[in-house]
Amino acid sequence: MSYSNWPNKTNDKTTALTDFFNKSHLLNSRQLKEEVFKRRLFFDRVAEVWEEEHRTAEPNHNLCRILQRMELKPGQVVLDAGCGTGRLAPFILKKIGPEGKLIAVDVSANMLKIARQKFNYHNLIFYQADVCELEVSGLFDQVICLCLLPHLPDKELALRSFRKYLKAEGQFIIAHTTSREEVNRYHAQLPEPICCDQLPERPEMIKLLQRTGFTMLELEESDIYFLRAVSS
Ligand SMILES: C[S@@+](CC[C@H](N)C(=O)[O-])C[C@H]1O[C@@H](n2cnc3c(N)ncnc32)[C@H](O)[C@@H]1O
Repeated sequence: MSYSNWPNKTNDKTTALTDFFNKSHLLNSRQLKEEVFKRRLFFDRVAEVWEEEHRTAEPNHNLCRILQRMELKPGQVVLDAGCGTGRLAPFILKKIGPEGKLIAVDVSANMLKIARQKFNYHNLIFYQADVCELEVSGLFDQVICLCLLPHLPDKELALRSFRKYLKAEGQFIIAHTTSREEVNRYHAQLPEPICCDQLPERPEMIKLLQRTGFTMLELEESDIYFLRAVSS
């Protein structure tokens, strides 16, 4: 992955900010909205670069491995959380078939503008929102976060929201096409606020899932990151 057009990190506040994000569960709702807004501005700015780098008819090898493990079934209702320019949409739709439904949510208007230009399916809805603030419960068979979790400032709040959106025993997937170390290293050299967006280490992730009502079924940490949990 390289985003040659993305500006470099410009100052040395990283340590202070990392500390700040380790305490992100202490953010009040106004601060949280500001953090989400900063990320929205960032992803609005890089939407075209993102699309340029990820536009592909065929998923790369690591994305194929992730897709195969999602266990999507015909007729399922799926949330693609932080859908970006929609690279997952055709693959999810193929698996869930015409009876299934895909709701693809992103906070960035520019990401969604590109996604809407590319796809038009009767059972696909693109929706602009903070994915932690949807007014739904018990609706989804699967919630999929591909390359999203690091960017959610309050991860505990996020997981509680996803738990609420899922049907009983619904499946929750967190996936990245590179290793956790690579994700975190890559984000660390990007500008604020993304430089602080980290994927938690395994013990922290397990505790987070337990606190938010999930049972972890598997967590592969290799050259990909793939976590599957069910709402318990
Ligand atoms: C790294 S991109 C991944 C996009 C897509 N999942 C993919 O893998 O191609 C992260 C996406 O998450 C979106 N995002 C970040 N915070 C969000 C939030 N709070 N609610 C919804 N989307 C968010 C960004 O706008 C961006 O499109």
